[in-house]
Amino acid sequence: MVADFMDVPDHGHEPVLLNAVLNFLSPRRGQVALDCTAGRGGHALALAQAVMPGGLVLCVDVDPDNLAYARTRLGQWGENCRYFQANFAQADEVLQAAGVSGVDLVLADLGVSTNQLTQDRHGLSFSVDAPLDMRLDPELTITAADLIAKLPEKELADMLFTLAQERWSRRIARRIVQVRQTTPISTTRQLAELVRQVVPPEPGRHKIDPATKTFQALRMAVNAELDNLGTLLEQVPQFIKPGGRAAFISFHSGEDRLVKHAMLEWQAQNRCRVLTKKPVMPDEVEIEANPRCRSARLRAAEFAVSTGVPPQ
Ligand SMILES: C[S@@+](CC[C@H](N)C(=O)[O-])C[C@H]1O[C@@H](n2cnc3c(N)ncnc32)[C@H](O)[C@@H]1O
Repeated sequence: MVADFMDVPDHGHEPVLLNAVLNFLSPRRGQVALDCTAGRGGHALALAQAVMPGGLVLCVDVDPDNLAYARTRLGQWGENCRYFQANFAQADEVLQAAGVSGVDLVLADLGVSTNQLTQDRHGLSFSVDAPLDMRLDPELTITAADLIAKLPEKELADMLFTLAQERWSRRIARRIVQVRQTTPISTTRQLAELVRQVVPPEPGRHKIDPATKTFQALRMAVNAELDNLGTLLEQVPQFIKPGGRAAFISFHSGEDRLVKHAMLEWQAQNRCRVLTKKPVMPDEVEIEANPRCRSARLRAAEFAVSTGVPPQ
Protein backbone atom coordinates (compact mmCIF):
# COMPACT_ATOMS: atom_id res chain seq x y z
CA MET A 1 0.00 0.00 0.00
CA VAL A 2 1.17 3.53 -0.71
CA ALA A 3 1.33 5.58 2.48
CA ASP A 4 2.24 8.97 1.05
CA PHE A 5 1.31 10.83 4.24
CA MET A 6 4.16 9.11 6.04
CA ASP A 7 6.51 11.62 4.42
CA VAL A 8 6.11 14.35 7.02
CA PRO A 9 7.17 17.77 5.68
CA ASP A 10 9.48 20.11 7.61
CA HIS A 11 6.83 21.83 9.71
CA GLY A 12 4.77 18.66 10.08
CA HIS A 13 2.26 19.86 7.49
CA GLU A 14 2.29 21.67 4.17
CA PRO A 15 -0.38 24.40 3.93
CA VAL A 16 -2.79 23.39 1.16
CA LEU A 17 -3.92 25.74 -1.65
CA LEU A 18 -1.97 28.56 -0.01
CA ASN A 19 -1.90 30.87 -3.04
CA ALA A 20 -5.60 30.39 -3.68
CA VAL A 21 -6.39 31.11 -0.02
CA LEU A 22 -4.43 34.36 -0.20
CA ASN A 23 -6.03 35.32 -3.51
CA PHE A 24 -9.55 34.79 -2.24
CA LEU A 25 -9.08 36.21 1.26
CA SER A 26 -7.04 39.07 -0.15
CA PRO A 27 -5.64 40.03 3.30
CA ARG A 28 -4.59 43.66 3.90
CA ARG A 29 -2.57 45.50 6.51
CA GLY A 30 -4.41 46.18 9.74
CA GLN A 31 -7.06 43.49 9.28
CA VAL A 32 -8.24 40.98 11.89
CA ALA A 33 -7.96 37.35 10.78
CA LEU A 34 -9.43 34.29 12.46
CA ASP A 35 -7.67 31.03 11.60
CA CYS A 36 -10.11 28.43 12.93
CA THR A 37 -7.67 25.56 12.34
CA ALA A 38 -4.22 27.01 12.98
CA GLY A 39 -2.54 23.57 12.84
CA ARG A 40 1.18 23.96 12.17
CA GLY A 41 0.72 27.65 11.40
CA GLY A 42 1.39 27.55 7.65
CA HIS A 43 -1.68 29.52 6.56
CA ALA A 44 -1.61 31.63 9.73
CA LEU A 45 1.97 32.68 9.00
CA ALA A 46 1.03 33.88 5.51
CA LEU A 47 -1.99 35.73 6.92
CA ALA A 48 0.16 37.36 9.60
CA GLN A 49 2.72 38.48 7.03
CA ALA A 50 -0.09 40.15 5.07
CA VAL A 51 -2.03 41.85 7.91
CA MET A 52 1.00 43.12 9.88
CA PRO A 53 1.88 45.69 10.97
CA GLY A 54 -1.22 46.72 12.80
CA GLY A 55 -3.23 43.56 12.21
CA LEU A 56 -4.34 40.76 14.51
CA VAL A 57 -4.35 37.00 13.88
CA LEU A 58 -6.44 34.82 16.18
CA CYS A 59 -5.27 31.22 16.03
CA VAL A 60 -7.66 28.47 17.14
CA ASP A 61 -7.00 24.75 17.35
CA VAL A 62 -8.31 21.92 19.50
CA ASP A 63 -4.92 20.22 19.50
CA PRO A 64 -2.66 21.86 22.09
CA ASP A 65 0.51 20.50 20.46
CA ASN A 66 -0.28 21.94 17.05
CA LEU A 67 -1.33 25.23 18.61
CA ALA A 68 1.96 25.43 20.54
CA TYR A 69 3.83 24.81 17.29
CA ALA A 70 1.90 27.57 15.51
CA ARG A 71 2.67 29.92 18.41
CA THR A 72 6.40 29.28 18.05
CA ARG A 73 6.21 29.84 14.32
CA LEU A 74 4.35 33.14 14.67
CA GLY A 75 6.33 34.32 17.70
CA GLN A 76 7.80 37.37 15.98
CA TRP A 77 4.43 39.16 16.07
CA GLY A 78 4.03 38.91 19.84
CA GLU A 79 0.65 40.11 21.06
CA ASN A 80 -0.60 40.65 17.52
CA CYS A 81 -1.06 36.91 17.22
CA ARG A 82 -3.20 35.26 19.86
CA TYR A 83 -3.82 31.59 20.54
CA PHE A 84 -6.89 29.73 21.76
CA GLN A 85 -7.09 26.03 22.44
CA ALA A 86 -10.73 25.69 21.53
CA ASN A 87 -13.16 24.09 19.17
CA PHE A 88 -14.07 26.35 16.25
CA ALA A 89 -17.70 25.54 17.04
CA GLN A 90 -17.06 27.97 19.92
CA ALA A 91 -15.59 30.67 17.69
CA ASP A 92 -18.04 33.22 19.10
CA GLU A 93 -16.74 32.55 22.64
CA VAL A 94 -13.15 32.82 21.42
CA LEU A 95 -13.87 36.26 19.96
CA GLN A 96 -15.53 37.30 23.19
CA ALA A 97 -12.51 36.12 25.19
CA ALA A 98 -10.25 38.03 22.80
CA GLY A 99 -12.36 41.17 23.19
CA VAL A 100 -12.91 41.27 19.43
CA SER A 101 -16.36 42.15 18.10
CA GLY A 102 -15.77 41.25 14.45
CA VAL A 103 -13.17 39.81 12.08
CA ASP A 104 -12.26 40.67 8.49
CA LEU A 105 -11.01 37.25 7.46
CA VAL A 106 -12.03 33.72 8.38
CA LEU A 107 -10.17 30.58 7.36
CA ALA A 108 -11.03 26.98 8.18
CA ASP A 109 -8.72 24.31 6.75
CA LEU A 110 -10.63 21.26 7.89
CA GLY A 111 -9.55 17.79 8.91
CA VAL A 112 -6.16 16.79 10.28
CA SER A 113 -2.55 17.79 9.72
CA THR A 114 0.03 15.36 8.37
CA ASN A 115 1.92 15.15 11.67
CA GLN A 116 -1.31 14.23 13.51
CA LEU A 117 -1.71 11.25 11.20
CA THR A 118 1.67 9.88 12.12
CA GLN A 119 1.64 10.62 15.86
CA ASP A 120 0.91 7.61 18.08
CA ARG A 121 -1.00 9.81 20.50
CA HIS A 122 -3.86 10.31 18.05
CA GLY A 123 -4.14 6.74 16.72
CA LEU A 124 -5.53 8.10 13.45
CA SER A 125 -3.70 6.02 10.92
CA PHE A 126 -3.86 2.38 9.94
CA SER A 127 -0.17 2.67 8.99
CA VAL A 128 0.99 3.38 12.55
CA ASP A 129 0.15 0.80 15.21
CA ALA A 130 -1.19 2.76 18.17
CA PRO A 131 -4.09 2.81 20.63
CA LEU A 132 -7.35 3.38 18.79
CA ASP A 133 -7.99 6.89 20.06
CA MET A 134 -8.57 9.46 17.26
CA ARG A 135 -9.37 12.41 19.56
CA LEU A 136 -7.85 15.62 18.21
CA ASP A 137 -9.04 17.38 21.34
CA PRO A 138 -7.57 15.64 24.43
CA GLU A 139 -10.50 16.94 26.47
CA LEU A 140 -12.97 14.74 24.59
CA THR A 141 -13.91 11.68 26.62
CA ILE A 142 -15.01 9.16 23.99
CA THR A 143 -12.34 7.47 21.89
CA ALA A 144 -12.63 5.46 18.70
CA ALA A 145 -12.04 2.29 20.76
CA ASP A 146 -15.07 3.24 22.90
CA LEU A 147 -17.29 3.57 19.80
CA ILE A 148 -16.01 0.28 18.41
CA ALA A 149 -16.65 -1.42 21.76
CA LYS A 150 -20.09 -0.03 22.46
CA LEU A 151 -22.05 0.97 19.36
CA PRO A 152 -24.73 -1.50 18.29
CA GLU A 153 -24.06 -3.22 14.95
CA LYS A 154 -26.62 -1.13 13.04
CA GLU A 155 -25.25 2.15 14.36
CA LEU A 156 -21.71 1.11 13.45
CA ALA A 157 -22.81 0.25 9.91
CA ASP A 158 -24.79 3.49 9.54
CA MET A 159 -21.82 5.52 10.78
CA LEU A 160 -19.48 3.90 8.21
CA PHE A 161 -21.98 4.41 5.44
CA THR A 162 -23.08 7.98 6.16
CA LEU A 163 -19.68 9.42 7.06
CA ALA A 164 -17.51 7.60 4.52
CA GLN A 165 -19.91 6.02 2.01
CA GLU A 166 -18.33 2.66 2.91
CA ARG A 167 -20.20 0.19 0.68
CA TRP A 168 -19.09 -2.75 2.85
CA SER A 169 -20.38 -1.07 6.02
CA ARG A 170 -22.66 -3.92 7.08
CA ARG A 171 -19.97 -6.55 6.64
CA ILE A 172 -17.45 -4.53 8.62
CA ALA A 173 -19.93 -3.82 11.41
CA ARG A 174 -20.87 -7.49 11.62
CA ARG A 175 -17.22 -8.51 11.87
CA ILE A 176 -16.49 -5.87 14.53
CA VAL A 177 -19.35 -7.18 16.64
CA GLN A 178 -18.20 -10.80 16.20
CA VAL A 179 -14.59 -10.04 17.14
CA ARG A 180 -15.35 -7.80 20.12
CA GLN A 181 -17.34 -10.60 21.78
CA THR A 182 -14.05 -12.38 22.45
CA THR A 183 -11.28 -9.77 22.02
CA PRO A 184 -11.33 -6.05 22.77
CA ILE A 185 -10.43 -4.03 19.64
CA SER A 186 -8.08 -1.46 21.06
CA THR A 187 -5.37 -0.78 18.47
CA THR A 188 -5.27 0.67 14.97
CA ARG A 189 -3.61 -2.49 13.66
CA GLN A 190 -6.34 -4.77 15.04
CA LEU A 191 -9.06 -2.68 13.44
CA ALA A 192 -7.26 -2.32 10.11
CA GLU A 193 -6.60 -6.06 9.89
CA LEU A 194 -10.18 -6.90 10.76
CA VAL A 195 -11.46 -4.59 7.98
CA ARG A 196 -8.95 -5.95 5.46
CA GLN A 197 -10.25 -9.47 6.18
CA VAL A 198 -13.78 -8.59 5.06
CA VAL A 199 -13.36 -5.83 2.45
CA PRO A 200 -12.08 -6.84 -0.98
CA PRO A 201 -9.31 -4.53 -2.26
CA GLU A 202 -10.44 -1.87 -4.78
CA PRO A 203 -9.23 -2.60 -8.27
CA GLY A 204 -7.38 0.21 -10.04
CA ARG A 205 -4.11 2.03 -10.33
CA HIS A 206 -4.12 3.90 -7.00
CA LYS A 207 -4.49 1.13 -4.48
CA ILE A 208 -6.36 2.45 -1.48
CA ASP A 209 -6.15 0.53 1.77
CA PRO A 210 -9.52 -1.17 2.45
CA ALA A 211 -9.42 0.32 5.98
CA THR A 212 -9.29 3.93 4.71
CA LYS A 213 -13.01 4.67 4.86
CA THR A 214 -13.52 2.97 8.22
CA PHE A 215 -10.77 5.11 9.74
CA GLN A 216 -12.15 8.28 8.15
CA ALA A 217 -15.68 7.64 9.42
CA LEU A 218 -14.50 6.84 12.94
CA ARG A 219 -12.34 9.98 13.11
CA MET A 220 -15.22 12.12 11.92
CA ALA A 221 -17.56 10.56 14.48
CA VAL A 222 -15.14 10.83 17.42
CA ASN A 223 -14.47 14.51 16.69
CA ALA A 224 -18.06 15.36 15.64
CA GLU A 225 -16.56 16.99 12.58
CA LEU A 226 -19.73 17.70 10.58
CA ASP A 227 -21.62 19.03 13.61
CA ASN A 228 -18.76 21.37 14.52
CA LEU A 229 -18.52 22.67 10.97
CA GLY A 230 -22.28 23.26 10.89
CA THR A 231 -22.08 25.29 14.09
CA LEU A 232 -19.18 27.38 12.77
CA LEU A 233 -21.07 28.07 9.53
CA GLU A 234 -24.05 29.32 11.56
CA GLN A 235 -21.79 31.73 13.44
CA VAL A 236 -19.66 33.21 10.65
CA PRO A 237 -22.27 35.70 9.35
CA GLN A 238 -22.73 36.96 12.92
CA PHE A 239 -19.11 37.89 13.51
CA ILE A 240 -17.62 38.64 10.10
CA LYS A 241 -17.30 42.37 9.42
CA PRO A 242 -19.02 44.00 6.42
CA GLY A 243 -16.78 43.41 3.40
CA GLY A 244 -15.03 40.52 5.19
CA ARG A 245 -14.04 37.32 3.45
CA ALA A 246 -14.26 33.66 4.48
CA ALA A 247 -12.54 30.60 3.00
CA PHE A 248 -13.06 26.93 3.78
CA ILE A 249 -10.93 23.99 2.66
CA SER A 250 -12.69 20.63 2.85
CA PHE A 251 -11.36 17.14 2.30
CA HIS A 252 -14.66 15.32 2.48
CA SER A 253 -17.74 15.58 0.27
CA GLY A 254 -20.05 15.97 3.30
CA GLU A 255 -18.03 18.94 4.56
CA ASP A 256 -17.87 20.53 1.13
CA ARG A 257 -21.65 20.16 0.79
CA LEU A 258 -22.23 21.94 4.11
CA VAL A 259 -19.94 24.80 3.07
CA LYS A 260 -21.52 25.10 -0.38
CA HIS A 261 -25.08 25.19 0.99
CA ALA A 262 -24.21 27.68 3.73
CA MET A 263 -22.61 30.03 1.20
CA LEU A 264 -25.56 29.76 -1.20
CA GLU A 265 -27.92 30.50 1.67
CA TRP A 266 -25.90 33.56 2.76
CA GLN A 267 -25.89 34.71 -0.86
CA ALA A 268 -29.65 34.21 -1.20
CA GLN A 269 -30.04 36.45 1.86
CA ASN A 270 -27.86 39.11 0.19
CA ARG A 271 -25.29 38.67 2.93
CA CYS A 272 -22.45 37.59 0.69
CA ARG A 273 -21.18 37.00 -2.80
CA VAL A 274 -19.77 33.54 -3.46
CA LEU A 275 -16.32 34.00 -5.00
CA THR A 276 -15.86 30.39 -6.14
CA LYS A 277 -18.51 29.21 -8.60
CA LYS A 278 -16.92 25.79 -8.43
CA PRO A 279 -14.65 24.57 -5.66
CA VAL A 280 -10.98 25.33 -6.31
CA MET A 281 -8.77 22.26 -6.34
CA PRO A 282 -5.00 21.81 -6.19
CA ASP A 283 -3.23 21.62 -9.55
CA GLU A 284 -1.00 18.75 -10.63
CA VAL A 285 2.16 20.48 -9.42
CA GLU A 286 0.78 20.81 -5.89
CA ILE A 287 -0.57 17.25 -5.88
CA GLU A 288 2.80 15.94 -7.05
CA ALA A 289 4.57 17.79 -4.23
CA ASN A 290 1.93 16.97 -1.61
CA PRO A 291 -0.22 13.95 -2.56
CA ARG A 292 -2.35 14.29 0.59
CA CYS A 293 -3.89 17.48 -0.79
CA ARG A 294 -5.49 15.77 -3.76
CA SER A 295 -9.00 15.78 -2.30
CA ALA A 296 -8.89 19.41 -1.10
CA ARG A 297 -11.76 21.72 -2.15
CA LEU A 298 -11.66 25.46 -1.44
CA ARG A 299 -14.74 27.68 -1.37
CA ALA A 300 -14.71 31.37 -0.54
CA ALA A 301 -17.21 34.18 -0.06
CA GLU A 302 -17.09 37.94 0.35
CA PHE A 303 -19.58 39.41 2.77
CA ALA A 304 -21.64 42.41 1.76
CA VAL A 305 -20.57 45.87 2.86
CA SER A 306 -24.19 46.37 3.83
CA THR A 307 -26.41 43.30 4.16
CA GLY A 308 -29.71 45.12 4.09
CA VAL A 309 -30.57 42.77 6.99
CA PRO A 310 -31.33 44.80 10.13
CA PRO A 311 -29.12 43.83 13.10
CA GLN A 312 -30.86 41.49 15.58
C1 LIG B 1 -5.50 20.54 8.08
S1 LIG B 1 -4.93 21.01 9.64
C2 LIG B 1 -4.65 22.75 9.46
C3 LIG B 1 -3.30 23.06 8.96
C4 LIG B 1 -2.96 24.54 8.94
N1 LIG B 1 -3.83 25.28 8.05
C5 LIG B 1 -1.51 24.76 8.57
O1 LIG B 1 -1.25 25.47 7.59
O2 LIG B 1 -0.65 24.21 9.24
C6 LIG B 1 -6.40 21.02 10.59
C7 LIG B 1 -6.23 21.45 12.03
O3 LIG B 1 -7.52 21.71 12.53
C8 LIG B 1 -7.61 21.25 13.85
N2 LIG B 1 -9.03 21.02 14.09
C9 LIG B 1 -9.81 20.03 13.60
N3 LIG B 1 -11.08 20.19 14.03
C10 LIG B 1 -11.10 21.32 14.78
C11 LIG B 1 -12.13 22.02 15.48
N4 LIG B 1 -13.40 21.58 15.48
N5 LIG B 1 -11.80 23.15 16.12
C12 LIG B 1 -10.52 23.62 16.13
N6 LIG B 1 -9.50 22.97 15.50
C13 LIG B 1 -9.79 21.85 14.83
C14 LIG B 1 -6.74 20.02 13.89
O4 LIG B 1 -6.31 19.76 15.20
C15 LIG B 1 -5.59 20.43 12.95
O5 LIG B 1 -4.55 21.03 13.66
